[in-house]
Amino acid sequence: MPAAVALQPLPKKLSTEVVFKAKPSLPLAPSPSPEGTIGRDIQPPIYAPVQHETWRRLYDRQSAAIVGRVCDEYLEGRAKLCYERERVPRLADLSERLRACTGWQCVRVEGYVPEATFFLLLAQKLFPCTDFLRHPSELEYTPAPDMFHDLMGHLPMITNPRFASFFHKFGLAGINARREEDTVKLGRIYWYTVEFGLINPTAHAGAARDQRLTKIYGAGISSSVGEIAYALSDAVKKTPFDIERVAATPVEIHHMQDELFEIASFDELEQSFEAWATAQSLI
Ligand SMILES: [Fe+2]
Repeated sequence: MPAAVALQPLPKKLSTEVVFKAKPSLPLAPSPSPEGTIGRDIQPPIYAPVQHETWRRLYDRQSAAIVGRVCDEYLEGRAKLCYERERVPRLADLSERLRACTGWQCVRVEGYVPEATFFLLLAQKLFPCTDFLRHPSELEYTPAPDMFHDLMGHLPMITNPRFASFFHKFGLAGINARREEDTVKLGRIYWYTVEFGLINPTAHAGAARDQRLTKIYGAGISSSVGEIAYALSDAVKKTPFDIERVAATPVEIHHMQDELFEIASFDELEQSFEAWATAQSLI
């Protein structure tokens, strides 16, 4: 396993192919925290009343949509993070609550994070979060993930020790990836787990699989009302998780997914990733 790495300044240049983070589509309010500020030192922008109202509307819609559809680990994380409903949360507050759970912290970024930086952050148990919130006209859909996606989609899962351990290993594997093909495979694994992962304890039970037990853990789904309903519908094929197959399945970022992968447990996710990454000499 690689030694701990020193945090490097975050480059402003955007990656053109990485799906990990996206550039905001709307101008950002000036933030008092420079990109790269970590944890409790992150100072929040001054949000306008309309932005607090946008947050509340997003929060209420998502809270109703997730009932019975997200996994227990997500709900437990959501409870531990104690989100405010009435106002846009402070990244510093959420980061401190996250740190108390798993030792991870938030780092403020403005948008895209180049993949090398992204891996470097994860390897240090730092998750990059934006502090810009989508325009009120984009409640249904935003082409670029905003802070609602980062905070309500990703952070709850990182409070879970098993998921957080997988995510840390993912970062370590990423900083060791030297070949383009390894980076592409890591991107696919990220997409079909961290962003669009499903969990079902009967995923590998064949004919005995119970589709009623399928729940959401991927942030791309849990943070989007439209994705929540669609992902669990019959329009999406559910395939038992097989990391080799996942690594070989191209990502389609411009359309809703027509196939998603179900893990049976987060133990399976971590163990299968560790075995795969070890076999690729990435960890
Ligand atoms: Fe995301």
